[in-house]
Amino acid sequence: MCGIVGYAGERECTGILVNALEKLEYRGYDSAGIAIFEGDRIKTVKAKGKIREGLVQRLRMEAHFSAVSGIGHTRWATHGEPSDINSHPIGNGRVSIVHNGIIENYRRVKEFLTDKGYGFESETDTEAVAKLLDYNYNGDPLDTIIKTIADIEGAYALGIMFREHKNRIFAVRKESPLIVGKGNGEMFIASDVTAIIEHTKEYYLLEPGEIADITKDGVTFYDIHKNVIEKELSVVDWDISAAEKGGYAHFMLKEIHEQPEALKRTISPRIKDGMPDFSECGLTDEKLRAYRHIYFVGCGSAMHAGIVGKYVVESLARTPVIMDIASEFRYRSPLLSPDDLVVIISQSGETADTLAALKLSNEIGADTLAIVNVVGSSIAREAKMVMYTLAGPEISVCSTKAYMVQTAFMYLIAFRVAYARNMIDEQTCKKYISMLEGVPALVEHCLADQTQYQKVAARLMSTDSLLYIGRGLDYALSMEGSLKLKEISYIHSESYAAGELKHGTISLIEDGMPVIAVATQHNLYEKTASNVKEVKSRGATVIMVCSETLKSEMADIDYPIYLPVTDDILMPLVAVVPLQLIAYYTAALKNFDVDHPKNLAKSVTVE
Ligand code: F6R
Repeated sequence: MCGIVGYAGERECTGILVNALEKLEYRGYDSAGIAIFEGDRIKTVKAKGKIREGLVQRLRMEAHFSAVSGIGHTRWATHGEPSDINSHPIGNGRVSIVHNGIIENYRRVKEFLTDKGYGFESETDTEAVAKLLDYNYNGDPLDTIIKTIADIEGAYALGIMFREHKNRIFAVRKESPLIVGKGNGEMFIASDVTAIIEHTKEYYLLEPGEIADITKDGVTFYDIHKNVIEKELSVVDWDISAAEKGGYAHFMLKEIHEQPEALKRTISPRIKDGMPDFSECGLTDEKLRAYRHIYFVGCGSAMHAGIVGKYVVESLARTPVIMDIASEFRYRSPLLSPDDLVVIISQSGETADTLAALKLSNEIGADTLAIVNVVGSSIAREAKMVMYTLAGPEISVCSTKAYMVQTAFMYLIAFRVAYARNMIDEQTCKKYISMLEGVPALVEHCLADQTQYQKVAARLMSTDSLLYIGRGLDYALSMEGSLKLKEISYIHSESYAAGELKHGTISLIEDGMPVIAVATQHNLYEKTASNVKEVKSRGATVIMVCSETLKSEMADIDYPIYLPVTDDILMPLVAVVPLQLIAYYTAALKNFDVDHPKNLAKSVTVE
């Protein structure tokens, strides 16, 4: 949901800003722009479209640049369509800003300013902030920012420049993320460290209500009473190569291939003496025994990981789990109590609905545990307990490795809850852990021969609509497979509990319609096989993703895909790989921009 960057240093900054924006393009890509100090004015260049197609082309038409400080923005439109005029930076020559988030009271601010004689050109909420800064400006940037943020409501991370304060960049945030990078004789701001990792690994996390006053020589932080505050410097613990494509055609493909390593990185620190261990966050067996209910809450793929979690915890620990879509949870007055545990799942740690669900759970007094990928993100900081998935940066908008490690966490939790509640003994728990440790090798195996997925993709690319079916854990997995495909290939698909088909949806089946059936659960295989026969006899083309132990049963399947086996309960971690790759190759064959699907952005910071 929009990426912002800023630079203050000694190098010509146009290219630095554009490169940094390209790293943030996953956050939004319908327009982009920069504002730089040039002579005694602020020069703004912005354009509709992706950075390379819009902004870069427009910059090429300009003369030589010599600015050493500026701000930049890549947009995911919320208020006003993607257009040059609605692009950021937004300002009036005296003030220029870039904004990530939503200003909820922008209409009231606009009315107030209109009464004072201000005119508005764009449809954005951001322009209200830019003009309010101008209205409040008294020559002192800090006073101006403090006065302005007191009057705006909503979520924001702002990068701000004042014409009269050349080569100084200001930043402030509430809810939306922002970091300040510390280089050698140069400073940065960015929505995410990936934007600046090629320049520095050292950064400060800006907290809500803090203001950063930045020049090339350093940064001073202030609270909203203008007191100087000291902040701790953090260091990124991954390398620039993690944020580059490394020879793969797309980040999505690279991230799918990174899954075995991501799995090992995430699970191994949580295993001690062969048992799941959550001492890092204080989640003790005593607590796990005492919780009345366990909730899993997330959106999209994170929610799908939670659905696997529900199946697994309920089946192993015989403990009821409530799985909720974050955007539904918060508005349905959940029957939550201080005796419950709410597990919040999120890659970005910034998803607005998930964050709101977490805040609500905290207010009610429930224990909250965040399973988050982005270190220091809002959800990580808001939760009472946090454990990080160690997937490394996930750049492709379509989640793959983050889903994989979130799901792996569901197993760790399930095993420990089952053990703490005496539903499995230590030996069984260790057996499960050892099988979980074997999963990365099985994922490698699924990655080895990709021609089978390409063949399926070639069949799917010309279809308009298809179904995914499965039972139990395979149904949970079908949801994820279906989401992947529709998200990046724009082919309509739905996932159905296989047994539910004949209650209505089977009427959609016609000659040649593809149906992807997932069958990894041996106790459910016969049932799913009957459902497959039902669709096949009505003309469906069946792609079956199933355990290789079922090979002998696959005689009349059009496209069988065999999976290496482990215990049935762990099979979602294996079977998701073909589903990801089928979606990937279908979108790639259609020549779509796989990493930047239309209308989407990686981190959904609006409701
Ligand atoms: C799908 C996808 C989304 C995210 C969802 C939650 O491929 O990426 O469905 O899973 O927007 O995002 P996080 O995990 O950042 O809260």
